[in-house]
Amino acid sequence: MDIESIKARLDSEINQINSPESLEALRVKYLGRKGVLAQLTSSIPTLPQEQRASFGKEVNALKNKVIFLLDERQKSFASLVSESRPGFLDLSLPGIAQDLGRLHPLTQVIKEICDIFTSMGFLVVEGPEIETEYNNFTGLNIPLEHPSREAFDTFYIAPQATHPSPNAKSRQHTAGSSVQQKLLLRSHTSSMQISVMKSRQPPLAVVVPGRVYRPDAVDAAHSFMFHQIEGFMVDENIRFSDLKGILEFFAKRVFGEDIKMRFRPHFFPFTEPSAEVDISCIICRREQRRENREEKKCSVCEGKGWLEILGSGMIHPNVFKNVGYDPKKYTGFAFGMGVERIAMLKYGINDIRLFFENDLRFLRQF
Ligand code: PHE
Repeated sequence: MDIESIKARLDSEINQINSPESLEALRVKYLGRKGVLAQLTSSIPTLPQEQRASFGKEVNALKNKVIFLLDERQKSFASLVSESRPGFLDLSLPGIAQDLGRLHPLTQVIKEICDIFTSMGFLVVEGPEIETEYNNFTGLNIPLEHPSREAFDTFYIAPQATHPSPNAKSRQHTAGSSVQQKLLLRSHTSSMQISVMKSRQPPLAVVVPGRVYRPDAVDAAHSFMFHQIEGFMVDENIRFSDLKGILEFFAKRVFGEDIKMRFRPHFFPFTEPSAEVDISCIICRREQRRENREEKKCSVCEGKGWLEILGSGMIHPNVFKNVGYDPKKYTGFAFGMGVERIAMLKYGINDIRLFFENDLRFLRQF
């Protein structure tokens, strides 16, 4: 093969390239494993010894030239595509879709519930997730021996190693106790009853949404972190019937006008009397259709026809004493509900873990 004639042909072939495909074809023809340059290289050993070096040099030079020309050609293609019509907007190209975000279903439910209460004049207040043992338990009249105070029901925060400081002793002293306040992850939003009542005076109507923590093993119905909404109202002459009226208004707005409600006597250390509140099962509506007793048991209400949605009661006089309110002057009610539970009932969700797994197939439905 004669290098000069190859060079001559190369120039015209390069000029004829008119598509990325023909460019690639030419690359294979020259640089491919069985291409022109490979053949030239493999012919070197067949030459007389004294010609080999100079021929090898020429082959190398040709190879570099081919690489250079093909590269140039490729670049001109790329720029041709983008520069052929400056400013041209090709509307036929697929667009770049913007991902539209949305509020998490729990955020939506919290907002919906808080909106219902603000429409009745309640104030929304948020509080810390790290709380003092006093706000979470003691102030709420929860005795030291109460099981919820045990470490297996509450996440306590290991006390920080205290650095010896000249003020440390006096600070503890002014706190009125020789023991440093234990800190914990709040196990309910009721802790905010204490801090809100301490910092404000009645009349008060407050709702507190927020995260709470309990060391429960995670399963379809339990999570070590979940959300609650606390509500309370304090004034002169607040009665149990106020609690009933307000909760009924709330439940009908969330679950529908046709639901029924019942107050079941219960016990909480910080309310007296206390009640758990049920609504008629919105899944099987059994209460409304008692005649179908043979039906398969509803998996949500277990055939009972009622669903527990919250705890409530009249604020205990001891709680008022703890925050410095006169229990003879003021009365009030409090309630606390689990947001996940409300959302699960409202949307027919059967596994609490779905809220926290960030699976967009689930989240996009809301
Ligand atoms: N804090 C209670 C709980 O977490 C609920 C509750 C709040 C009950 C307010 C009565 C009054 O179970």
